[in-house]
Amino acid sequence: MPKLIGALSLAAALVCSSAATAGDADAGDKRYHESCHACHGPAGKGVSSYPKVSGNPVEYTREKLQGYRSGQKFGPNSALMIMMAKPLSDEEIENLAVYLKDAKYE
Ligand code: HEC
Repeated sequence: MPKLIGALSLAAALVCSSAATAGDADAGDKRYHESCHACHGPAGKGVSSYPKVSGNPVEYTREKLQGYRSGQKFGPNSALMIMMAKPLSDEEIENLAVYLKDAKYE
């Protein structure tokens, strides 16, 4: 019996974690407009020295945001992004990455 309970809770954990990594583009859209739009422009199309952040694979954006969040430097202006990424949760990063993958500026 304890084995069965163990298996069930493992299955539940797996289901939950896969749901958490699916990402919610609408929530990402909202979050983007709260703190990213000012620099990266509408739908992540980029503005002057702020890079385009839309149209990249989810894994790419996730890796960048997790990197910045942990204080990693990529380009010469990483300090700005490190500051922006610090407060993001894993879920927010996932939502932002899913939103940005297909975000289009019309
Ligand atoms: C204060 C302006 C500013 C804000 C606000 C900002 N960014 Fe950035 N972002 C930058 C700059 C500048 C870079 C390039 C940093 C570097 O040189 O590494 C960058 C880089 C990035 C990159 C990596 C692009 C690449 O291909 O290397 C991603 C992804 C990104 N930002 C997403 C976001 C998200 C999501 C938000 C909102 C939570 C956000 N940014 C808010 C200025 C900003």
